[in-house]
Amino acid sequence: SRTYVITGAASGIGKVTAEILRERGETVIGVDLKGVDVAGDLSSHEGRRAAAGEAAQLAGGTVDAVIACAGLSVMKPVTVAVNFFGMAEFLEALLPALGRSEAPRAALVSSMASLQPVSTALVDAMLAGDEEQALSLAGSLAEASPESNPIYSSSKRAISRWVRREAPTAAWGGAGISLNAVAPGTVVTPMTKDLLASEQGRAMTDAYVPMPLNSHQGAESIAHLLIWLTSVENTHCAGQTIYCDGGVDTVLRGDDV
Ligand code: NAI
Repeated sequence: SRTYVITGAASGIGKVTAEILRERGETVIGVDLKGVDVAGDLSSHEGRRAAAGEAAQLAGGTVDAVIACAGLSVMKPVTVAVNFFGMAEFLEALLPALGRSEAPRAALVSSMASLQPVSTALVDAMLAGDEEQALSLAGSLAEASPESNPIYSSSKRAISRWVRREAPTAAWGGAGISLNAVAPGTVVTPMTKDLLASEQGRAMTDAYVPMPLNSHQGAESIAHLLIWLTSVENTHCAGQTIYCDGGVDTVLRGDDV
């Protein structure tokens, strides 16, 4: 069996992914704020390093796959800390453990929101690895417009671009480690529960996130793709963000390929 480290394993997409893998007899080490194998806070440098270290230790030093789901959708600076740095820095910390696997893979959850308007300065600060600057820029955006700002979309644009930049490098592709992302549309999880509970919330969501194919999706639709991306069978996907979103990408981007 293979050993998977899954962040955000206490809820939603991460939880369902962990359940399916365990049912198949795989070993899963869940990471989340609480209620899983490794309790850790991915919003801080120390939390990421400690959680990655503990997960690698529980895995006995060799990790076959990392699936990074932990994320937030609040329009506040902490979303930058978890959605971008909580994925990028956590994954980097597990590179040595992935390097010991015979078929190492990593997949993370971006979003169709990566296609929505972003703050270029904020995206650039994240990609430069400047967390202090990124948090400060996000703080200004949140202050200027607490109800509606590009913090979430910027965090997802940055993580999709990070995957694309890192996948061909010596550390990842050159070391035989496949790195990709998945971009969902509106997934029915605790994250979207309140929004989808009211008629008005649903109408607003569907205006921003048009899903012509089958409308809102269950977490398992994303889980199965994450599982394939991190399987032994995936030998050649590199740096992709795969839109599994009921067609949002085709509506928003049209011919832009
Ligand atoms: P969820 O809220 O059900 O699960 C997210 C998990 O991340 C929670 O268990 C939470 O405790 C954990 N988490 C949050 N902050 C953390 C921190 N500082 N340290 C450790 N763990 C932390 O949400 P869901 O829907 O399962 O989301 C998973 C991923 O999918 C997120 O990255 C989200 O942005 C992304 N996504 C979700 C969509 C949706 O419609 N639900 C759409 C597109 C992307």
